[in-house]
Amino acid sequence: MTEKIALYPGSFDPMTNGHLDIVRRCALVFDRIEVAVAHNPSKEPLFTPEERAQIIRDSTTDIENLTVSHFDGLTVRYARKINARYLIRGLRAISDFESEIQMAMLNRELDPGIETFFVVPDARYSYISSSMVKQLYIAGGPIADLLPPPALKMVEERLERRIAPEQ
Ligand code: PNS
Repeated sequence: MTEKIALYPGSFDPMTNGHLDIVRRCALVFDRIEVAVAHNPSKEPLFTPEERAQIIRDSTTDIENLTVSHFDGLTVRYARKINARYLIRGLRAISDFESEIQMAMLNRELDPGIETFFVVPDARYSYISSSMVKQLYIAGGPIADLLPPPALKMVEERLERRIAPEQ
């Protein structure tokens, strides 16, 4: 039987507990899941692809059927390269739907042999994104419950708080 390999591509700048929740759900369904940091030209990342991949590795050491990498270029091409026939994308809210459907359709057009699966995270994470967590941190808000510890450490090292947290 062929191994069911899924590719979970994204910016992961950095990985949040929402991403981690999706990874855990997928690890139960697919034989192997590869989380791959992709270059999104419309975003200005805080961390390098290597740093983002390392944060993911350090946050998922207990998940055995998971591998981590980063890539440039088309997601479907990278999926073929690693023998993945499934793409994973998280759907948090209705607002994600339009762009995600567009992306899934485009990827299907590019390679009809690769199927996109949408996974819904736990409601606790339905409102968080990497960008929102970074903004919250800069503004002095609490982020410890929103990031896995390796991501939290890197954010604290890299970002300066413009407003001190309330005591
Ligand atoms: O975490 P993000 O930023 O929502 O992830 C978007 C990403 C990186 C998966 C998407 O921009 C992507 O697939 N980029 C690679 C280039 C590509 O394949 N583009 C066609 C599909 S939009």
